[in-house]
Amino acid sequence: MGFFHFQLLKKSKKSMARLGIIRTPRGVIHTPAFMPVGTQATVKTLTPEEVSDLGAEIILSNTYHLYLRPGTEIINKAGGLHRFMNWQGPILTDSGGFQVFSLGSLRRITDDGVHFRSHLDGSPHFISPEKSMEIQAVLGSDIAMAFDVCAPFPCSYEEALEAVERTTRWAERSLKAPHAPGQVVFGIVQGSVYPELRERSAREITALDFPGYAVGGLSVGEPKVIMYEVLEKTTPLLPEDRPRYLMGVGTADCLWEGVARGVDLFDCVLPTRIARNGTALTSKGKVVVRNAEFADDFSPIDADCGCYTCRNYSRAYLRHLFKAEEILGHRLLTIHNLYFTLGVMAEIRQAIREDRFEEHMDEFLKQLNSTNV
Ligand code: GUN
Ligand code: ZN
Repeated sequence: MGFFHFQLLKKSKKSMARLGIIRTPRGVIHTPAFMPVGTQATVKTLTPEEVSDLGAEIILSNTYHLYLRPGTEIINKAGGLHRFMNWQGPILTDSGGFQVFSLGSLRRITDDGVHFRSHLDGSPHFISPEKSMEIQAVLGSDIAMAFDVCAPFPCSYEEALEAVERTTRWAERSLKAPHAPGQVVFGIVQGSVYPELRERSAREITALDFPGYAVGGLSVGEPKVIMYEVLEKTTPLLPEDRPRYLMGVGTADCLWEGVARGVDLFDCVLPTRIARNGTALTSKGKVVVRNAEFADDFSPIDADCGCYTCRNYSRAYLRHLFKAEEILGHRLLTIHNLYFTLGVMAEIRQAIREDRFEEHMDEFLKQLNSTNV
């Protein structure tokens, strides 16, 4: 118990794609991996058993939301987040920085930390790097994230520079703060779209010797080509022997493009979120289940999909559930979208293993773009 280890199993010859395995006290994670998002101690609509059966080996949860509700006292009494929510595998918790920054006018940043008002009841709160680590220690996540500053897009060089400088100082404080037994802390590289700031951030953050590194400040509204460009300039600055995590990214095309640039871990609310507004992800693009054209379409969402939903239910039935606002529709599409996304990751790992990652990626992206979006 109490070990964390990343083993690099294989590197692709023609791209930066890599196959690996992360060992944690609560189980192994085969990388590249996708982490379903359980912001409020639940992957919305599913039980932990269902999430695990879909192939997830690790989930992500959020410090900010759980601190405000139910609060650390309750989770502490429950014996930590794993016991509270009945998820036995590894959990990564985001530090709350990003969520607090999304609050806009409700917050004020100083070098100490962030003063903000709760989105729930307007009550005033303060989170510092020490406070974030204290909350994450109570949650007892296996991987805690350093408390960082995510600059918006677009943002000026000066603003991005300030975020980088603060992120480094906060990373040092995050690392020094106490954490839970067996819990590791990942550092986060910022720098917006400015190569020299990414370089500086990567240099300063890696000097602190974290067991894993995240690329933050991407997927915040910039065009995808910009994200790919920044990413491919950033990952080579990170040590080979530590896992790399691209925060907030998880559409199928970005998973392939991210892995091609050396990313090992991803998370994104998109698959589960759009499931609840009636959108299914497939290898040929999105299927908007509500569309009138599916009213009497008794075929599955995706004839090639092996998920529980596609094996048992038609587009017509799913459309009906969404039109009638029945919650089973939310569950069935969440199952499908997570099966699809986790399936893409399994396909990526298999392709790297069999030395055909680049060819397979071309094929996959061609098919994805062949019909709709
Ligand atoms: N989630 C998506 N992007 C970010 C980021 O830059 N920082 C943190 N802490 N979380 C994120
Ligand atoms: Zn399916």
